[in-house]
Amino acid sequence: MTYNFDEIIERRGTDSIKWNGSPRGVKAASIGGDLLPLWVADMDFRSPQVVLDAIAKRAAHGLFGYTVAPAAYLAATREWLARRHGWEVETDSLVPVPGVVPSIQIAIEAFTHPGEKVVIQPPVYHPFRLVPIANGRQVVENPLTRDGTRYAMDLAQLERVIDSDTRLLILCSPHNPVGRVWRTEELAGLVELCAAKGVVVLSDEIHCDLILGGNRHVPTGLAAGDLADRVVTLVSATKSFNLSSLSCAAAVIPDPLLRGRFTRQVERAALNHHNPLSLAASEAAYRQGVDWLEGLLAYLGGNYRFMVSYLKEQAPALEVIPLEGTYLAWIDCSRTGLPDAEITKRLLAEGLWLEEGPKYGTGGEGFQRLNFACPRATLERALARLVRALAP
Ligand SMILES: Cc1ncc(COP(=O)(O)O)c(C=O)c1O
Repeated sequence: MTYNFDEIIERRGTDSIKWNGSPRGVKAASIGGDLLPLWVADMDFRSPQVVLDAIAKRAAHGLFGYTVAPAAYLAATREWLARRHGWEVETDSLVPVPGVVPSIQIAIEAFTHPGEKVVIQPPVYHPFRLVPIANGRQVVENPLTRDGTRYAMDLAQLERVIDSDTRLLILCSPHNPVGRVWRTEELAGLVELCAAKGVVVLSDEIHCDLILGGNRHVPTGLAAGDLADRVVTLVSATKSFNLSSLSCAAAVIPDPLLRGRFTRQVERAALNHHNPLSLAASEAAYRQGVDWLEGLLAYLGGNYRFMVSYLKEQAPALEVIPLEGTYLAWIDCSRTGLPDAEITKRLLAEGLWLEEGPKYGTGGEGFQRLNFACPRATLERALARLVRALAP
Protein backbone atom coordinates (compact mmCIF):
# COMPACT_ATOMS: atom_id res chain seq x y z
CA MET A 1 0.00 0.00 0.00
CA THR A 2 1.19 3.57 -0.59
CA TYR A 3 0.82 6.32 1.97
CA ASN A 4 0.78 10.05 1.36
CA PHE A 5 3.53 11.45 3.56
CA ASP A 6 3.56 14.58 1.38
CA GLU A 7 0.21 15.72 2.76
CA ILE A 8 0.55 18.92 4.76
CA ILE A 9 -1.71 18.73 7.80
CA GLU A 10 -2.38 21.93 9.75
CA ARG A 11 -1.24 21.36 13.34
CA ARG A 12 -1.57 24.91 14.61
CA GLY A 13 -4.53 25.19 16.96
CA THR A 14 -4.21 21.60 18.20
CA ASP A 15 -2.27 22.40 21.40
CA SER A 16 0.81 20.83 19.82
CA ILE A 17 3.91 21.95 21.70
CA LYS A 18 5.80 21.82 18.42
CA TRP A 19 3.45 24.05 16.43
CA ASN A 20 1.78 26.11 19.16
CA GLY A 21 4.65 26.67 21.56
CA SER A 22 7.23 29.37 21.15
CA PRO A 23 10.98 29.23 21.65
CA ARG A 24 12.28 30.38 25.01
CA GLY A 25 12.13 34.15 25.27
CA VAL A 26 10.51 34.61 21.85
CA LYS A 27 6.89 35.22 20.98
CA ALA A 28 5.85 33.38 17.80
CA ALA A 29 3.92 36.50 16.85
CA SER A 30 7.12 38.55 16.89
CA ILE A 31 8.39 36.51 13.93
CA GLY A 32 5.21 36.83 11.95
CA GLY A 33 3.56 33.63 13.16
CA ASP A 34 5.12 31.75 10.24
CA LEU A 35 7.63 29.89 12.34
CA LEU A 36 8.62 26.46 11.00
CA PRO A 37 9.18 24.22 14.03
CA LEU A 38 11.56 21.36 13.30
CA TRP A 39 12.57 20.91 16.90
CA VAL A 40 10.82 18.50 19.33
CA ALA A 41 10.78 14.84 18.24
CA ASP A 42 7.31 14.19 16.94
CA MET A 43 6.29 13.84 13.29
CA ASP A 44 4.00 15.91 11.10
CA PHE A 45 2.43 12.73 9.67
CA ARG A 46 -0.94 11.22 10.61
CA SER A 47 -0.63 7.88 12.44
CA PRO A 48 -1.53 4.73 10.47
CA GLN A 49 -5.24 4.26 9.73
CA VAL A 50 -5.18 0.87 11.51
CA VAL A 51 -4.16 2.70 14.69
CA LEU A 52 -6.81 5.40 14.29
CA ASP A 53 -9.42 2.66 13.77
CA ALA A 54 -8.32 0.83 16.92
CA ILE A 55 -8.61 4.03 18.96
CA ALA A 56 -12.05 4.79 17.49
CA LYS A 57 -13.25 1.25 18.18
CA ARG A 58 -12.12 1.39 21.80
CA ALA A 59 -13.57 4.90 22.23
CA ALA A 60 -16.92 3.76 20.82
CA HIS A 61 -17.29 1.39 23.77
CA GLY A 62 -17.76 4.52 25.85
CA LEU A 63 -16.42 3.25 29.18
CA PHE A 64 -13.06 4.44 30.43
CA GLY A 65 -12.80 3.09 33.94
CA TYR A 66 -9.47 2.12 35.55
CA THR A 67 -7.63 -0.17 33.18
CA VAL A 68 -4.64 -2.48 33.43
CA ALA A 69 -2.43 -3.41 30.48
CA PRO A 70 -4.00 -6.49 28.89
CA ALA A 71 -2.05 -9.62 28.01
CA ALA A 72 -2.77 -8.79 24.35
CA TYR A 73 -0.73 -5.54 24.55
CA LEU A 74 2.18 -7.35 26.19
CA ALA A 75 2.00 -10.17 23.63
CA ALA A 76 1.97 -7.65 20.76
CA THR A 77 5.06 -5.95 22.24
CA ARG A 78 6.85 -9.27 22.72
CA GLU A 79 6.03 -10.45 19.20
CA TRP A 80 7.14 -7.12 17.69
CA LEU A 81 10.51 -7.35 19.42
CA ALA A 82 10.95 -10.91 18.14
CA ARG A 83 9.83 -10.20 14.55
CA ARG A 84 11.37 -6.78 14.04
CA HIS A 85 14.53 -7.09 16.13
CA GLY A 86 15.12 -10.82 16.52
CA TRP A 87 14.87 -10.48 20.30
CA GLU A 88 12.92 -13.14 22.19
CA VAL A 89 11.82 -11.97 25.63
CA GLU A 90 9.62 -13.66 28.21
CA THR A 91 6.17 -12.13 28.72
CA ASP A 92 6.90 -12.11 32.46
CA SER A 93 9.85 -9.80 31.92
CA LEU A 94 7.62 -7.03 30.51
CA VAL A 95 6.39 -4.25 32.77
CA PRO A 96 3.84 -1.85 31.19
CA VAL A 97 4.64 1.80 31.90
CA PRO A 98 3.07 5.12 30.92
CA GLY A 99 6.00 6.48 28.92
CA VAL A 100 9.76 6.28 28.62
CA VAL A 101 10.80 9.42 30.50
CA PRO A 102 8.57 8.49 33.47
CA SER A 103 10.31 5.10 33.41
CA ILE A 104 13.72 6.76 33.66
CA GLN A 105 12.51 8.40 36.85
CA ILE A 106 11.16 5.06 38.11
CA ALA A 107 14.46 3.31 37.30
CA ILE A 108 16.42 5.97 39.17
CA GLU A 109 14.26 5.48 42.26
CA ALA A 110 14.41 1.70 41.90
CA PHE A 111 18.13 1.18 41.26
CA THR A 112 19.90 4.08 42.98
CA HIS A 113 19.81 5.92 46.30
CA PRO A 114 19.90 9.70 46.71
CA GLY A 115 23.45 10.99 46.21
CA GLU A 116 24.56 7.99 44.16
CA LYS A 117 25.87 8.34 40.63
CA VAL A 118 24.25 7.88 37.25
CA VAL A 119 26.39 7.88 34.09
CA ILE A 120 25.26 9.51 30.86
CA GLN A 121 27.07 9.80 27.52
CA PRO A 122 26.61 13.31 26.15
CA PRO A 123 25.71 14.87 23.86
CA VAL A 124 22.47 13.09 24.72
CA TYR A 125 18.71 13.51 25.12
CA HIS A 126 18.53 16.13 27.89
CA PRO A 127 16.15 14.32 30.34
CA PHE A 128 18.97 11.79 30.89
CA ARG A 129 20.72 14.59 32.79
CA LEU A 130 17.73 16.51 34.13
CA VAL A 131 15.76 13.61 35.64
CA PRO A 132 18.56 12.19 37.83
CA ILE A 133 19.49 15.69 39.02
CA ALA A 134 15.85 16.52 39.83
CA ASN A 135 15.78 13.32 41.91
CA GLY A 136 18.89 14.19 43.92
CA ARG A 137 21.33 11.89 42.12
CA GLN A 138 24.78 12.86 40.83
CA VAL A 139 25.26 12.77 37.10
CA VAL A 140 28.69 11.81 35.81
CA GLU A 141 29.60 12.03 32.17
CA ASN A 142 31.31 9.69 29.78
CA PRO A 143 31.21 11.97 26.72
CA LEU A 144 31.04 10.30 23.32
CA THR A 145 34.21 10.65 21.31
CA ARG A 146 34.15 11.94 17.74
CA ASP A 147 36.53 10.84 15.05
CA GLY A 148 35.73 12.97 12.01
CA THR A 149 31.99 12.51 11.61
CA ARG A 150 31.78 9.23 13.56
CA TYR A 151 30.79 9.12 17.20
CA ALA A 152 31.77 6.28 19.54
CA MET A 153 31.48 5.30 23.20
CA ASP A 154 34.79 5.47 25.06
CA LEU A 155 34.97 2.43 27.32
CA ALA A 156 38.46 3.19 28.67
CA GLN A 157 37.20 6.59 29.81
CA LEU A 158 34.03 4.94 31.20
CA GLU A 159 36.13 2.62 33.33
CA ARG A 160 37.79 5.66 34.89
CA VAL A 161 34.47 7.46 35.41
CA ILE A 162 32.73 4.63 37.29
CA ASP A 163 33.45 4.44 41.02
CA SER A 164 31.95 2.62 44.00
CA ASP A 165 29.01 5.09 44.15
CA THR A 166 27.99 4.50 40.52
CA ARG A 167 24.81 2.44 40.12
CA LEU A 168 23.25 3.15 36.74
CA LEU A 169 24.24 4.04 33.19
CA ILE A 170 21.58 5.45 30.86
CA LEU A 171 22.20 4.42 27.27
CA CYS A 172 20.45 5.93 24.27
CA SER A 173 20.14 3.31 21.54
CA PRO A 174 19.82 4.47 18.79
CA HIS A 175 21.48 7.62 20.06
CA ASN A 176 19.55 10.88 20.06
CA PRO A 177 20.97 13.32 18.90
CA VAL A 178 24.09 11.92 17.15
CA GLY A 179 22.13 9.29 15.20
CA ARG A 180 24.36 6.28 15.89
CA VAL A 181 22.87 2.79 15.74
CA TRP A 182 25.21 0.92 18.05
CA ARG A 183 26.79 -2.33 16.84
CA THR A 184 26.66 -5.62 18.75
CA GLU A 185 30.35 -5.39 19.76
CA GLU A 186 29.95 -1.84 21.08
CA LEU A 187 26.91 -2.82 23.16
CA ALA A 188 28.42 -6.08 24.41
CA GLY A 189 31.59 -4.25 25.53
CA LEU A 190 29.55 -1.63 27.36
CA VAL A 191 27.40 -4.16 29.22
CA GLU A 192 30.43 -6.29 30.10
CA LEU A 193 32.20 -3.33 31.69
CA CYS A 194 29.10 -2.11 33.54
CA ALA A 195 28.28 -5.61 34.81
CA ALA A 196 31.83 -6.04 36.10
CA LYS A 197 31.44 -2.78 38.04
CA GLY A 198 27.95 -3.56 39.38
CA VAL A 199 26.32 -0.85 37.24
CA VAL A 200 22.87 -1.54 35.74
CA VAL A 201 22.44 -0.47 32.10
CA LEU A 202 19.17 1.33 31.39
CA SER A 203 18.79 1.17 27.61
CA ASP A 204 16.33 3.68 26.15
CA GLU A 205 15.37 2.14 22.80
CA ILE A 206 12.44 4.38 21.92
CA HIS A 207 14.00 5.09 18.49
CA CYS A 208 14.69 1.41 17.72
CA ASP A 209 12.27 1.12 14.79
CA LEU A 210 13.54 4.28 13.09
CA ILE A 211 16.56 2.85 11.34
CA LEU A 212 17.89 4.25 8.07
CA GLY A 213 20.07 2.91 5.27
CA GLY A 214 21.40 -0.60 5.66
CA ASN A 215 21.74 -0.31 9.43
CA ARG A 216 20.22 -2.74 11.91
CA HIS A 217 19.18 -2.08 15.49
CA VAL A 218 20.49 -4.62 17.98
CA PRO A 219 18.67 -4.59 21.33
CA THR A 220 21.17 -4.13 24.15
CA GLY A 221 19.64 -7.09 25.98
CA LEU A 222 20.35 -9.27 22.95
CA ALA A 223 23.90 -8.00 22.47
CA ALA A 224 24.51 -8.61 26.18
CA GLY A 225 24.20 -12.40 25.79
CA ASP A 226 24.70 -14.05 29.19
CA LEU A 227 24.69 -10.63 30.85
CA ALA A 228 21.14 -9.78 29.69
CA ASP A 229 20.05 -9.75 33.34
CA ARG A 230 22.10 -6.58 33.87
CA VAL A 231 20.08 -4.64 31.29
CA VAL A 232 16.74 -2.86 31.69
CA THR A 233 15.31 -1.84 28.32
CA LEU A 234 12.61 0.72 27.55
CA VAL A 235 10.60 0.28 24.35
CA SER A 236 7.53 2.00 22.97
CA ALA A 237 5.46 2.26 19.80
CA THR A 238 4.91 5.97 20.38
CA LYS A 239 7.96 7.35 18.54
CA SER A 240 7.71 4.97 15.57
CA PHE A 241 3.98 5.53 14.99
CA ASN A 242 3.72 9.16 16.12
CA LEU A 243 1.68 8.57 19.28
CA SER A 244 3.81 10.57 21.73
CA SER A 245 1.01 12.15 23.72
CA LEU A 246 -0.61 8.74 24.25
CA SER A 247 2.27 7.92 26.68
CA CYS A 248 2.59 4.17 26.55
CA ALA A 249 5.72 2.03 26.87
CA ALA A 250 7.11 -1.18 28.30
CA ALA A 251 10.19 -1.97 30.37
CA VAL A 252 11.90 -5.27 29.58
CA ILE A 253 13.49 -6.55 32.79
CA PRO A 254 14.60 -10.20 32.67
CA ASP A 255 16.11 -10.22 36.19
CA PRO A 256 13.37 -10.89 38.79
CA LEU A 257 15.16 -8.88 41.48
CA LEU A 258 15.52 -5.77 39.35
CA ARG A 259 12.00 -6.26 38.03
CA GLY A 260 10.62 -6.45 41.57
CA ARG A 261 12.38 -3.22 42.56
CA PHE A 262 11.12 -1.47 39.42
CA THR A 263 7.55 -2.74 39.80
CA ARG A 264 7.39 -1.60 43.41
CA GLN A 265 8.33 1.92 42.30
CA VAL A 266 5.68 1.82 39.58
CA GLU A 267 3.14 0.96 42.26
CA ARG A 268 4.45 3.57 44.71
CA ALA A 269 4.01 6.22 42.04
CA ALA A 270 0.53 4.85 41.24
CA LEU A 271 1.54 4.41 37.61
CA ASN A 272 0.12 0.89 37.28
CA HIS A 273 -3.12 1.94 35.63
CA HIS A 274 -3.09 2.64 31.91
CA ASN A 275 -4.93 4.61 29.30
CA PRO A 276 -7.11 2.17 27.30
CA LEU A 277 -6.87 4.28 24.13
CA SER A 278 -3.06 4.25 24.34
CA LEU A 279 -2.99 0.50 24.86
CA ALA A 280 -5.34 -0.09 21.91
CA ALA A 281 -3.25 2.22 19.71
CA SER A 282 0.08 0.60 20.65
CA GLU A 283 -1.24 -2.91 20.20
CA ALA A 284 -2.67 -2.08 16.75
CA ALA A 285 0.57 -0.36 15.73
CA TYR A 286 2.65 -3.41 16.65
CA ARG A 287 0.22 -5.87 15.12
CA GLN A 288 -0.85 -4.06 11.95
CA GLY A 289 1.44 -1.06 11.45
CA VAL A 290 4.50 -2.60 9.83
CA ASP A 291 3.54 -1.73 6.25
CA TRP A 292 3.02 1.94 7.21
CA LEU A 293 6.34 1.92 9.09
CA GLU A 294 8.18 0.62 6.01
CA GLY A 295 6.57 3.42 3.96
CA LEU A 296 7.58 5.95 6.61
CA LEU A 297 11.20 4.75 6.64
CA ALA A 298 11.42 5.00 2.86
CA TYR A 299 10.05 8.57 3.03
CA LEU A 300 12.38 9.57 5.87
CA GLY A 301 15.33 8.12 3.94
CA GLY A 302 14.32 10.30 0.98
CA ASN A 303 14.07 13.37 3.21
CA TYR A 304 17.46 12.67 4.70
CA ARG A 305 19.15 12.31 1.31
CA PHE A 306 17.38 15.43 0.04
CA MET A 307 18.61 17.42 3.05
CA VAL A 308 22.20 16.21 2.77
CA SER A 309 22.52 17.07 -0.92
CA TYR A 310 20.69 20.40 -0.50
CA LEU A 311 23.03 21.54 2.27
CA LYS A 312 26.12 20.21 0.53
CA GLU A 313 25.31 22.38 -2.45
CA GLN A 314 23.88 25.46 -0.74
CA ALA A 315 25.71 25.58 2.60
CA PRO A 316 28.90 23.52 2.51
CA ALA A 317 29.99 24.97 5.87
CA LEU A 318 27.17 23.04 7.56
CA GLU A 319 28.08 19.40 8.10
CA VAL A 320 25.33 16.82 8.61
CA ILE A 321 26.68 13.98 10.75
CA PRO A 322 25.96 10.71 8.87
CA LEU A 323 22.74 9.41 10.34
CA GLU A 324 22.11 5.70 10.98
CA GLY A 325 18.84 5.99 12.88
CA THR A 326 16.17 8.42 14.22
CA TYR A 327 14.72 11.29 12.15
CA LEU A 328 16.86 13.86 13.92
CA ALA A 329 19.75 15.33 11.96
CA TRP A 330 22.74 16.49 13.97
CA ILE A 331 24.24 19.40 12.08
CA ASP A 332 27.67 20.79 12.86
CA CYS A 333 27.46 24.56 12.34
CA SER A 334 30.80 25.36 13.98
CA ARG A 335 32.48 26.27 10.69
CA THR A 336 30.21 29.31 10.45
CA GLY A 337 32.30 30.67 13.34
CA LEU A 338 29.14 31.94 15.03
CA PRO A 339 28.35 31.42 18.73
CA ASP A 340 25.33 29.18 19.49
CA ALA A 341 23.13 32.03 20.68
CA GLU A 342 23.81 33.97 17.48
CA ILE A 343 23.05 30.92 15.31
CA THR A 344 19.71 30.42 17.09
CA LYS A 345 18.92 34.13 16.84
CA ARG A 346 19.56 34.13 13.08
CA LEU A 347 17.50 30.97 12.56
CA LEU A 348 14.54 32.39 14.46
CA ALA A 349 14.80 35.66 12.59
CA GLU A 350 14.38 33.64 9.38
CA GLY A 351 11.43 31.75 10.92
CA LEU A 352 13.12 28.43 11.70
CA TRP A 353 12.98 26.77 15.12
CA LEU A 354 15.52 23.99 15.65
CA GLU A 355 17.04 22.53 18.83
CA GLU A 356 20.25 24.22 19.97
CA GLY A 357 23.09 21.71 20.46
CA PRO A 358 24.12 22.80 23.98
CA LYS A 359 20.74 21.54 25.25
CA TYR A 360 22.23 18.05 24.87
CA GLY A 361 25.18 18.86 27.14
CA THR A 362 28.90 18.37 26.64
CA GLY A 363 29.83 18.17 22.97
CA GLY A 364 26.66 19.92 21.80
CA GLU A 365 28.31 23.28 21.25
CA GLY A 366 28.17 24.47 17.64
CA PHE A 367 25.41 22.02 16.66
CA GLN A 368 21.74 22.30 15.79
CA ARG A 369 19.33 19.32 15.75
CA LEU A 370 16.82 19.29 12.92
CA ASN A 371 13.72 17.04 12.91
CA PHE A 372 13.09 16.09 9.28
CA ALA A 373 9.95 13.99 9.93
CA CYS A 374 7.75 16.34 7.93
CA PRO A 375 6.46 16.58 4.36
CA ARG A 376 9.25 17.21 1.85
CA ALA A 377 7.79 20.61 0.93
CA THR A 378 8.02 21.73 4.58
CA LEU A 379 11.58 20.45 4.78
CA GLU A 380 12.51 22.32 1.61
CA ARG A 381 11.13 25.58 3.01
CA ALA A 382 13.00 24.98 6.27
CA LEU A 383 16.29 24.29 4.50
CA ALA A 384 15.95 27.47 2.44
CA ARG A 385 15.58 29.37 5.73
CA LEU A 386 18.55 27.56 7.24
CA VAL A 387 20.69 28.53 4.27
CA ARG A 388 19.51 32.15 4.35
CA ALA A 389 20.25 32.33 8.07
CA LEU A 390 23.68 30.74 8.12
CA ALA A 391 25.13 30.85 4.62
CA PRO A 392 24.02 34.25 3.34
C1 LIG B 1 15.72 9.11 23.61
C2 LIG B 1 14.32 9.48 23.98
N1 LIG B 1 13.72 8.89 25.03
C3 LIG B 1 12.46 9.20 25.40
C4 LIG B 1 11.72 10.13 24.71
C5 LIG B 1 10.33 10.47 25.16
O1 LIG B 1 9.69 9.35 25.67
P1 LIG B 1 8.22 9.44 26.28
O2 LIG B 1 7.45 10.39 25.42
O3 LIG B 1 7.68 8.05 26.22
O4 LIG B 1 8.36 9.91 27.69
C6 LIG B 1 12.31 10.78 23.61
C7 LIG B 1 11.57 11.82 22.87
O5 LIG B 1 12.10 12.53 22.07
C8 LIG B 1 13.62 10.44 23.23
O6 LIG B 1 14.23 11.00 22.18
